[in-house]
Amino acid sequence: MARLKTAVLISGRGTNLQALIGACADPSFPAELCLVVSNRPDAEGLRRAGAAGIATRVIDHKGFADRRGFEAALDAALREARAEFICNAGFMRVLTEWFVERWRDRQINIHPSLLPVFPGLDTHARALAAGVRIAGCTAHFVRTEVDAGPIIAQAAVPVRPTDDEETLAARVLEAEHRIYPRALRLIAEGRVTVVDERVHIEGAAEPRGVLINPADS
Ligand code: GAR
Repeated sequence: MARLKTAVLISGRGTNLQALIGACADPSFPAELCLVVSNRPDAEGLRRAGAAGIATRVIDHKGFADRRGFEAALDAALREARAEFICNAGFMRVLTEWFVERWRDRQINIHPSLLPVFPGLDTHARALAAGVRIAGCTAHFVRTEVDAGPIIAQAAVPVRPTDDEETLAARVLEAEHRIYPRALRLIAEGRVTVVDERVHIEGAAEPRGVLINPADS
């Protein structure tokens, strides 16, 4: 079966991109990466893509008068690469309705919180300030509202009393790297549908157990 031709949009470090590169390196994985686009020329993720032999493009938003110009260039690059699907992986530009609708249900994002709580920036600081005992991450379809859209997969991790932003972010990031390739796999296998803005996954396995924090002492 043909693999889903997937482009990844990044703005920085690219560890989620790396997780997708790792998954796609397996020839039996149902998606392949055809292009990595960064809106920042200095994004570390560009080097990761280059090292994996994946085509890269820098489309610097600063070179455009408005969002529409930037998005038109982005859309053209994606079509030129014959991308069928987009994964946003630490892509920090807000997309307009024009772009979002063009790629509706063909674009996903990973966010480091259990959406719909803590969308936007400073997620971990806000989670710690709120005193939540369980944090996590969400893979979801992209909509015009930032960090919102039908949820494909989530992972939960405990918040420890000694956590600071850095330790919590690291724990959540590890979970991101596990669920993002999984979400892409389910989609590329054709098992995911969006009905009334909720995701249905054909043959989804039942998760085991419940995460309780604090645990019994
Ligand atoms: C990740 O934690 C991702 O969830 C987050 O940016 C980080 C990028 O790291 N994305 C958002 O906050 C989107 N609102 P990475 O470049 O190493 O993948």
